[in-house]
Amino acid sequence: MSDTGKSRNKDNKGKRLYLHTFGCQMNKADSLRLSEIFQAEGYSFTKKLEEADVIIYNTCSVRHHAENKAMSYVGRLKSIKDEKPEVVICVVGCMAQRLKGEIIRRLPLVDYVIGPSSMFDLPDLIKKEKSGVFADSSDKRKEFPDVEFSSINIDSPFSGYVPIMKGCNNFCAYCIVPYVRGREEYRTRKDIINECKVLAGRGIKEVMLLGQTVNSHPHFKDILKETAAISGIERVRFVTSYPGDMDKETVDIVAGITELCDNFHIPVQSGSDRILKEMGRKYSTSHFNDIALYIRKKLPLASISTDFIVGFPGEKEEDFKKTLELVKKIEFDQSFTFKYSPREGTRSEKLEDDVPREIKKERLAELNKLCGKMSLKRNMLFEGEALEVFAEDKNTGRSSNYKIVHWYGPAAKMGEKVKIKINKALAHSLKGKRIT
Ligand code: 5AD
Ligand code: SF4
Repeated sequence: MSDTGKSRNKDNKGKRLYLHTFGCQMNKADSLRLSEIFQAEGYSFTKKLEEADVIIYNTCSVRHHAENKAMSYVGRLKSIKDEKPEVVICVVGCMAQRLKGEIIRRLPLVDYVIGPSSMFDLPDLIKKEKSGVFADSSDKRKEFPDVEFSSINIDSPFSGYVPIMKGCNNFCAYCIVPYVRGREEYRTRKDIINECKVLAGRGIKEVMLLGQTVNSHPHFKDILKETAAISGIERVRFVTSYPGDMDKETVDIVAGITELCDNFHIPVQSGSDRILKEMGRKYSTSHFNDIALYIRKKLPLASISTDFIVGFPGEKEEDFKKTLELVKKIEFDQSFTFKYSPREGTRSEKLEDDVPREIKKERLAELNKLCGKMSLKRNMLFEGEALEVFAEDKNTGRSSNYKIVHWYGPAAKMGEKVKIKINKALAHSLKGKRIT
């Protein structure tokens, strides 16, 4: 946690917070904001569970595995709670919203269960010693928290997360997000730009505009342009783009403004139109190909990353083959691949999970192998090229198209801009020599 000198509560002086985050960038942004709020309350940060006065797990519900993992981490706190009963244990975020009181029934050592919309009230609740379950989705008191508590990335303090919307209206058949994060709510342009300016004033050079479907914000294109124009902001990223709302104009805007990073995360999920329809995804593979190939034409070095689900109910070998074909056609720079996992209350939970486990496993392995080859192929384009990199560590950083770059030669300070001549491509990173 950075020292921003905002501490205003002396009662909590010396108190320590342990915070662990599962899941997506939205969760990371929420966690960073939460740590800032706790810091303002006088807390400092610890990486040691035994030292903590407050322990928070910010959880993810998107796959069954993510929930199991969070439950098992929290379960392991038993000896700590036995030894120090006054330690406050909190489960926040999507799993808290989904399972509510069930979490305390299964793990009675938990004091607070708080959904995404109320989590920023946590310090107040602790002060009032009002433990319990706070996961009412109709609770909209804090639409978006104060900009005073921005989400500066602790791992790279020159970079900040800025949520521009929350929730999702798409209700894809497999997805729990609309149930735990609610319907779409858009932050105003003024509020977003204001927060970006506050961040720039604090020395932030890179902002990541966030939303489950970030490009569904009605003013998305203007937000991109206005954020890029803020003095001090050198890089603007945006995740996650919903393919159905992606258009060529957005690509043109990115191509025309240097500060807008040439990196697109557009989860396609499947290369079969039949499966996309079953999934309730509101686009076709031909629309997706159109956009992706346009990016390749307009910005040949831009990175395109995506997500895939294998083994969705009814997925036949021929559907899966179409996914492989799509990968070969687009040559994704990075792919995140998942085995289908039925989520309670979603539409696809009612469909028979009919792709056998073994087949899901095989398809996942085959897809991963192909995607790895494609990532390497794309990365090889950079051999011999000089890339501008923002250092995230002494000898590691990211290029504008979000490639991880390692270099030999002089170390850099965090946030420093360096130029690296790439001489070796790996599937998931680039290596080179520092030249400036
Ligand atoms: N099963 C498997 N993967 C899922 N995802 C979302 N829901 C599920 C599910 N029920 C994946 C999608 C999404 C990513 C964040 O997680 O690929 O884009
Ligand atoms: Fe889930 Fe679909 Fe919304 Fe993405 S677009 S968060 S997959 S419902």
